[in-house]
Amino acid sequence: MADVEATLNYLAPMDERPYYYNHPPPKGTPWRNTHGDRRTVRVYDARNTPGSSLDVEGFELVRIETKLEDAYDTDAVKAVYYPEMEALVGGATGAKRVLAFDHNVRNPKRAGKDDLSQNPVHFVHNDYTVASGPQRVRDLVGGEEAEELVARRFAVINVWRPLRGPVEENPLAFCDASTMRPEDFVATDLRYADRNGEIYSILFRPEHRWHYYPAMRADEALLLKCYDSDPDRASFTAHSAIEDPNSPPDAAPRESIEVRTLAFF
Ligand code: OGA
Ligand code: FE
Repeated sequence: MADVEATLNYLAPMDERPYYYNHPPPKGTPWRNTHGDRRTVRVYDARNTPGSSLDVEGFELVRIETKLEDAYDTDAVKAVYYPEMEALVGGATGAKRVLAFDHNVRNPKRAGKDDLSQNPVHFVHNDYTVASGPQRVRDLVGGEEAEELVARRFAVINVWRPLRGPVEENPLAFCDASTMRPEDFVATDLRYADRNGEIYSILFRPEHRWHYYPAMRADEALLLKCYDSDPDRASFTAHSAIEDPNSPPDAAPRESIEVRTLAFF
């Protein structure tokens, strides 16, 4: 059993609409108007509860093969890895069409030194909201075609994978979507230089049941539901990096890639 206790950074309840700046804010404006609500929770080893599904719990572990050699080569990621992830998500979900549209590479050794690499995210969130899911389709596809696509079922599914395994620190934890309620999700502005995004911050509730996959390998990928237009299926999966109490003192920094895909049914 590799269940662990970990501290999660939820959103402290607030009256204002929460925001975060992703670039330096105007003089006198704080970077964010939120406060953390730190809660220590049990995070269950998801390897002990196989059979989780994207449509009920909102997460699934799959095996992955890739011809991608360099995750820091953005052109190669788009040319080689995106089509592989589209096929993977199509195979796992039965979607008629899948569009990979965005990715992040996380590497604490490179974060802040290049434009590409970011740190793990120690903040409980979901990447899309009821509003920003369809907005993403309109921004990417546009026009009549977008309207036809959002009129039918579609989902945003992240494919999260270690670049080097086994992961020894900062694993990604995620909350079983069937233990969450609509009132746990708080629409939050992400202010970029050129646009506003909308994500969900999450309010704590003791019923939330958290999981992670210990020692994830580079040939394993986690599928995470971040939006579903069908309210009868898991729609959003809160997630966050956690500090793993079992990390060895000389743990290798976690390196990972996550690709965001739109799946149309
Ligand atoms: C994600 C995500 C954070 C991390 O994949 O959507 O929030 O630390 N990842 O990898
Ligand atoms: Fe995320």
